[in-house]
Amino acid sequence: MTKYVAAIDQGTTSTRCMIFTHDGKVAAIDQREHKQIFPRAGWVEHDPAEVWENTRAVAAGALAKADLAVSDIASVGITNQRETAVVWDRRTGEPVYNAIVWQDTRTDKIATQLGDLGGGQERYRSTTGLPLATYFSGPKVRWILDNVDGARERAEAGDLMFGNMDTWVLWNMTGGVDGGVHATDPTNASRTLLMDLSTLDWDADIAGEMGIPLSMLPQIRSSSEEYGKVRARGALAGVPIAGILGDQQAATFGQACLSPGEAKNTYGTGNFVLLNTGTEQVMSENGLLTTVCYKIGSADPVYALEGSIAVTGSLVQWIRDNLGMIGSAAEIEEHARQVEDNGGCYFVPAFSGLFAPYWRSDARGAIVGLTRYVNKGHLARAVLEATAFQTREVIDAMNADSGVPLTALKVDGGMVANELLMQFQADILGVPVIRPVVAETTALGAAYAAGLAVGFWDSEDDIRANWAKDKEWTPELSEDKRDRTYAKWKKAVTRTFDWVD
Ligand code: G3P
Repeated sequence: MTKYVAAIDQGTTSTRCMIFTHDGKVAAIDQREHKQIFPRAGWVEHDPAEVWENTRAVAAGALAKADLAVSDIASVGITNQRETAVVWDRRTGEPVYNAIVWQDTRTDKIATQLGDLGGGQERYRSTTGLPLATYFSGPKVRWILDNVDGARERAEAGDLMFGNMDTWVLWNMTGGVDGGVHATDPTNASRTLLMDLSTLDWDADIAGEMGIPLSMLPQIRSSSEEYGKVRARGALAGVPIAGILGDQQAATFGQACLSPGEAKNTYGTGNFVLLNTGTEQVMSENGLLTTVCYKIGSADPVYALEGSIAVTGSLVQWIRDNLGMIGSAAEIEEHARQVEDNGGCYFVPAFSGLFAPYWRSDARGAIVGLTRYVNKGHLARAVLEATAFQTREVIDAMNADSGVPLTALKVDGGMVANELLMQFQADILGVPVIRPVVAETTALGAAYAAGLAVGFWDSEDDIRANWAKDKEWTPELSEDKRDRTYAKWKKAVTRTFDWVD
């Protein structure tokens, strides 16, 4: 009997493979970073070949670290950075261009032109649950077809395939040019601006308007079923691939937010708050997204409201890599602890414009409130606080949309190791913040989807039973102080608007 399930987590900065036990504990992890390519201001790309190479390497690495044989693995799940778009040739397997990453703003004009056809940013909202913004995949595919020599002709001839990273990894793992499976799941498809949230199928009219041939699009299957087996050239040869979830939906699943009203916040490159709304699609009136949360086999899809924040952890990275102010991400907390508060300094990291709840691609980052009093500690604090303030903004929007104020927030992801940030998060939200024992909920969620499909886990009750609390932070800041600092943040945000012509 097999004792483990594996998950590939193809994230924005790295790819990892994790192996989990039946009680949801981590048995092994292997991880590799890939290059971040910034060809121009506002552009962000990844090399799909490098990502695929890393995927194979970490799969082999995790198996070796746990000292396991392939026969010990019941199934493998895929989770991924969402929206990042790859277009490749179905006969050669060669990408026609680098992957255009979700943070990339080059499609600004395409989005505006589509909105000008009528309805502006809300043009596709009722069908897709999304505003027209640079974030989503559809306009990125359009950009590739418009800008890469010969791409449109090849796409129209049926030679090109599109996929988000889940599809790119799945197609390659299942054999690539040699019979690779070209599929995705509804959580990923719901981030393209091309999928109808009700039918869970591609919307031919929207695809037509965006100039994207339907023949390029992967088949939309459920989030938990067997899509195919890993072919011999992959390290997990012969193992069924049986789960696909976009990383934020995977984290929601791994956090056992399985009932309507349950929400989580993942602190990664960006932050993403997802609230399970059950089988109901709640259309946001406050700048959030309506998205598919998961679809397990033939069961009805479960939906979520999402508050997407583009830059949180990547701001700490920027402070490390572009300013050299710290040597490692963990050092930011040490600096922030040297001071009592932010010294009046606010850092709004609108590096990719602003996502929820503003959706302003004309915004760019700003540090405001500077005086000669401000030092490195204050700046470090402002960097961390930016994550908590942005989270407060999307939770406020969520409370307004759902009409039911959140009473506690489950958190996960890399930055939840930062105790100062977690305390400030509870302070600025005014509700407890709860961290689970296994904070790697993204990979865990994908493993659950893959394990459920092959009977490794019996039901969602197993997921609930495996979830356990590690630590809880309760608010300590006075209401008056909370309101005053938050009002200053809101004012700082307005200073980032109208920056791009
Ligand atoms: O929507 C983008 C999101 O999926 C990226 O997540 O964890 O790679 O920053 P992450």
